[in-house]
Amino acid sequence: MPDPRLPSPAPRPAASGSVLPAIPFYAPDLGEAELRALQTTLVSRRLAGGATQTERCHRMLAATMPDSLPLLTQSCTAALEMAALLLELRPGDEVIMPSWTFCSTANAVLLRGAVPVFADVREDTLNLDADDVAAAVTPRSRAVICVHYAGVGCDMAALQAVCRRHGLALIEDAAQAVGASWAGQPLGSFGTLGAFSYHASKNLTCGEGGALIVNDPSLRSRAEILWEKGTDRLRFARGEVSRYSWQDLGSSFLPSEVTASLLAVQLARLEEITEKRLAVWRRYDTLLAPLAEDWGLRRPQIPQAAAHNGHIYHLRFPSRAMRDHVLARLAAERIGASTHYEPLHLSAAGRRFGQTLAPLPVTEAAGATLLRLPLYGDLPPGEQDRVVERLDAALAAIPH
Ligand SMILES: Cc1ncc(COP(=O)(O)O)c(C=O)c1O
Repeated sequence: MPDPRLPSPAPRPAASGSVLPAIPFYAPDLGEAELRALQTTLVSRRLAGGATQTERCHRMLAATMPDSLPLLTQSCTAALEMAALLLELRPGDEVIMPSWTFCSTANAVLLRGAVPVFADVREDTLNLDADDVAAAVTPRSRAVICVHYAGVGCDMAALQAVCRRHGLALIEDAAQAVGASWAGQPLGSFGTLGAFSYHASKNLTCGEGGALIVNDPSLRSRAEILWEKGTDRLRFARGEVSRYSWQDLGSSFLPSEVTASLLAVQLARLEEITEKRLAVWRRYDTLLAPLAEDWGLRRPQIPQAAAHNGHIYHLRFPSRAMRDHVLARLAAERIGASTHYEPLHLSAAGRRFGQTLAPLPVTEAAGATLLRLPLYGDLPPGEQDRVVERLDAALAAIPH
C-alpha cells in the first residue's frame, strides 16, 4: 500500500559511522483509506461533531461491547475527566490508582477536588495490585482507577472483588488497551466506566482522540448530557424532544467529524493493525530471549487470561545505570527507544497533590529500569534486527 505516513528524518551518519535511517519510536499505521475518508468528510462540509462519522464509530465500538454506551471524546484525558464528573467525585474523596501511569489519570480526579491515592503494581505485569488496593481503602475511598499497562489486562476478577467489597466504582484507564481482552471480554467493558486513547502513539489513532465507555446503565442518560455541553441535544437528534436545552453540568467532550472519520477507518482496521503489531512484538520476544537470559533482562510477562494488543515491548534491566547506558547508545544510533513513566508519587505534582500510604518498590524499580523499544506494525524485519543487534552491542560495551 503506498504509504503517506510521516516522512522519516533525513539519513545522517550514526555513531557507528554508517548512514542508516532513523528508527522512530512509534509510527501511526495510516494509508490510502484514511486519506480518502478525510477527503470525503472535508468535501461533505459536515465538520461539527456528533454526526454520521461519530455514529459510525459508536456503532463499531458497541459491536464489541454490546451492553455499553460508547462516546467518542477528544482524548483519553477528556474521557477520564468525564468519568470523574459522571461519578460526582467531590473534594476529600479518595481515588486509588497506580503511580505507574500517565498524569492524566491523576489530574482527572484532582480537577474534581478529589485525592489520588497511589498503590503499587504487580511485579509480573506492572498492573495494579489488588492486595495493595485493598490495603489503601479508607472510609473516604470512592473509586479505583486501574491501568492496563502495555495493553495487558489487569486481573479484573481480583479488582472487581475489592471494589464490590468496599462499594467502590471501578474506572478502567484502557488508554493502551484498544482491542485487548481479559478472559475473552474486551478491556474497557469491565468497570463502571472505561476510557480509551487514540493518540498518535497508540495502536489506533486519529491524532488526538479517545472514548468513554459507559458500562453502568444508570449513568447512560447523564453521560449523554455531560458529553454535549450539558444539553439534551442527543435526545433532540433522536426526535425524543422538540428542542434541546441546558440540563446539567457538561463540557464539549465530543471530537469533530474530521477526527471521527479518520478514527472510523482505524476502528475498521483494528484486527489488521493489531495482528501486525503482535507479529513485531512476538519477533522481539523470540530474538531477545537469549540476550535476556545472558544479561538478566526481564521480558514482558503475559498472564494466561490476557489477550494483549502488542502496544509496548519493554525490557527491565538489572539496574538504572545499565538501562541508561543502553538508552544512550541506542539514541546515538538514532534508534527511538524510550523509558516510560516517572512514577507519579515521585513527581513534583504527585508529591504536592497525591497521597502515598506505603512504599511503592515495584513502581520505583520500573521507573528506574524499564526501556521500551520501537514498535509499530510496519517496522521492517531488517530494522528490527538492527535494534536487537545494537542493543546487544550496547550491552557488550558496558564498562565492568
Ligand atoms: C495510562 C494512560 N492514561 C491516559 C493517557 C492519556 O491519553 P490521551 O493522550 O489520549 O489523553 C495516557 C497517554 O499516554 C496513558 O498512558
